[in-house]
Amino acid sequence: MMNILVIGSGGREHALAWQCAKDDKVNNVYVAPGNAGTALEPKCQNVVLVSTGENASEHSAIIDFCQNNAIDMVIVGPEAPLVTGIVDACRDAGIQAWGPTAYCAQLEGSKTFAKEFMEQNNIPTAAYKGFTEAVAAKAYIDEQGAPIVIKADGLAAGKGVIVAETIEQAYEAIDDMLADNKFGDAGSRVVIEQFLQGEEASFICMIDGKNILPMATSQDHKRAFEGDTGPNTGGMGAYSPAPVVTQDVHEKVMTQVIQPVVDAMNNAGHPYTGFLYAGLMIDETGDPYVIEFNCRFGDPETQPILMRLQSSMVDLVAKGLAGQLPSDAQWDSRPALGIVIASKGYPETSSKGDVIAGLPELDDNNDNAVKVFHAGTAFSDSDAIDREKEVVTNGGRVLCVTALAGISDAQQAALAVTGAISFDGAQYRRDIGHHAIARENS
Ligand code: AMP
Ligand code: GLY
Repeated sequence: MMNILVIGSGGREHALAWQCAKDDKVNNVYVAPGNAGTALEPKCQNVVLVSTGENASEHSAIIDFCQNNAIDMVIVGPEAPLVTGIVDACRDAGIQAWGPTAYCAQLEGSKTFAKEFMEQNNIPTAAYKGFTEAVAAKAYIDEQGAPIVIKADGLAAGKGVIVAETIEQAYEAIDDMLADNKFGDAGSRVVIEQFLQGEEASFICMIDGKNILPMATSQDHKRAFEGDTGPNTGGMGAYSPAPVVTQDVHEKVMTQVIQPVVDAMNNAGHPYTGFLYAGLMIDETGDPYVIEFNCRFGDPETQPILMRLQSSMVDLVAKGLAGQLPSDAQWDSRPALGIVIASKGYPETSSKGDVIAGLPELDDNNDNAVKVFHAGTAFSDSDAIDREKEVVTNGGRVLCVTALAGISDAQQAALAVTGAISFDGAQYRRDIGHHAIARENS
């Protein structure tokens, strides 16, 4: 029997923990720090080890826990602990941890590192230039014209990117990041890049240093509001598969993007291990360009993707840790679609402690076509007898209602459950899946 530790507290981690718990070989899934959903999931329990898992004392708390609780594998959800080297620290302590080392995680941790890496390895991406001075940055914007994209260099939870439609908006973004320091250290350096046109897709793989296992494809909805308008968020909903990734596009991504990452990291003496997420723009001729790399699974992409996974997540990670990843996995042929319900004010501000009504039972059989994954949830009173009645918001993205069915049916099924859930200021998009539904209808 196995014990697993999942690090993180989002919808992605609920989905990962839920998938691991389904495996008969698994005894306990600990989630640090987890959320209300992971606390309620059978075989799962939250452990108050870490808040973010980012610093060395948190790393040692994780290592101690693993040693004291016979943890067979650690699966790291979010980028922050990866960027600060949680996988390196676990390996040094002889603990099996799934994720990239700090060196490889720079692909997400620094936009500048990622752009230089892509340039050196001929990976298709938008033309760019890096700046630390506002005057020089603005001169470059004048030269390039709008639309143009301004990105904070470091980690900014998906929110450090401004797609400027006008020169004025681009200036404003520069002032926010370089002059006013709105993004802190993450924004003390900016990357300015060419605006890419096309349709986005998320291409996520498992990599064991040499073998590549592509996950089912997916598409995220980054903007806060319907019709892909409003500010960028961490993601307001996702579905899988993404029809824009045809077989031909898939092959191009594997040969032009993923394989070059694996080869280049090996050549650098830092084999890439863990999940790798390429955020892509697919142009009208079907050529992929990398918008960004993430060194982890996507959130909310994980929720629909793992809803479709029929192979054991635990077996896949075990094979990945052993350097024996297969080249494919078993997927439910039906699409899955997840709608994020975010808290009041998201993404600018965040509200906590609002009671959530209308949550369906978290019962869990495979035929269940709708699953509500928790993200920013907590218990108002951890001693309450009927804990499910006491679930409250804990900020940011709160839930992801995910349905498995035909794409339109999945949207309808997810909307029906979403509509029955309520809390003060709840916000969600009704148009998740619109690209795929339009394709299906045409
Ligand atoms: P990122 O955090 O780099 O993924 O950027 C967030 C979002 O901004 C992406 O999902 C795109 O929608 C948009 N974006 C980023 N870079 C570009 C680009 N070069 N051209 C067009 N849109 C972009
Ligand atoms: N959904 C986008 C991300 O995980 O970065």
